[in-house]
Amino acid sequence: MNLRHALPRVPLAGGPTPLQLLPRLSAALRGPTLWCKRDDQTALAGGGNKARKLEYLMALARQQGADTVVTFGGVHSNHARMTAAAARMCGLSPVLVLTGTLPVPAVGNPLLDALLGARIVTVPDHGKGRDAAVAALRETLAAEGRRVAWIPGGGSTPLGAMGYVRALFELRAQCEAEGITPAAVWCAAGTEGTWRGLRAGAALARWPVAIEGVAVATPAERAGFGVTDEASFFSEMGELLGEALTIPAAQLIEDQVGGAYGAVTEAGVQAMAQAAQAEGLILDPVYTGKALAGLLARIVDGGYRQGEHVVFVHTGGWPGLAPKAAAIEAALAATAGVD
Ligand SMILES: Cc1ncc(COP(=O)(O)O)c(C=O)c1O
Repeated sequence: MNLRHALPRVPLAGGPTPLQLLPRLSAALRGPTLWCKRDDQTALAGGGNKARKLEYLMALARQQGADTVVTFGGVHSNHARMTAAAARMCGLSPVLVLTGTLPVPAVGNPLLDALLGARIVTVPDHGKGRDAAVAALRETLAAEGRRVAWIPGGGSTPLGAMGYVRALFELRAQCEAEGITPAAVWCAAGTEGTWRGLRAGAALARWPVAIEGVAVATPAERAGFGVTDEASFFSEMGELLGEALTIPAAQLIEDQVGGAYGAVTEAGVQAMAQAAQAEGLILDPVYTGKALAGLLARIVDGGYRQGEHVVFVHTGGWPGLAPKAAAIEAALAATAGVD
């Protein structure tokens, strides 16, 4: 595979991100040897998985001759913050269409969006109000003579997912250097671009690892995020790669959502506390805490043997802590510490 030469890419993510052994968490669980792929340390605006997708999406925006980038998300979107930063790094103007109400005072991602000077349009959850606001924005930008690149929420187009094909090859090289072949690689799944990209990468690399995705939103919410069916997504990825992909069917793990996207769960906060107290590793309540909770549940159920290796992909999200502070504190109060 020669992806890095085949498709235009703006280097935004730095890396390779570290592959870190988690010895104390592994020992405490008496299960497989756990590793963390530190994509929270990508080099863009505080880190996170979106940097890898944006390398390809910003290259496309440049090819399109854009001077402005518009993307979508919730008011606390990591993707929106990282797109705004990527736009700035490429000398383009960021515009964010955010669902919900901006917090006052600004915290977390909305505070970073303000620092990045993104133009922000807030819209209702769904329905006519949202469509009308987006149509009005389209007209305003056209009247201003702007050349706009539109990036969907989460950046999870087949092109964006190429960032995680590339990540898979990076991870495989790191695993080979460590002399391990993991039984599985785990990640959080929202718009599914990370999970699908890793799966496409594993198929392309013919690397026999299971790629497990932990859903952080209900199926209906994911449909609302614009998640499209896998068959056409993978076939478009295959066209970009110049090779048809045969990807084993896989099911997302659906039992960590906690009812709704963004809901703080006890299992998620417990996983956050375990990672922090065993390894000094800070996760977030919306994505990575839930993903690790899914992996810990699998280990407790005996899903892996001692001697096997499992990689957890830390996809970032620390700005999501502040807006959930009260719920995290409440859940922490119910959690036993290690000391
Ligand atoms: C911190 C973090 N982790 C994981 C994800 C999920 O990635 P994907 O949307 O590619 O499924 C996101 C998406 O916003 C995220 O911000």
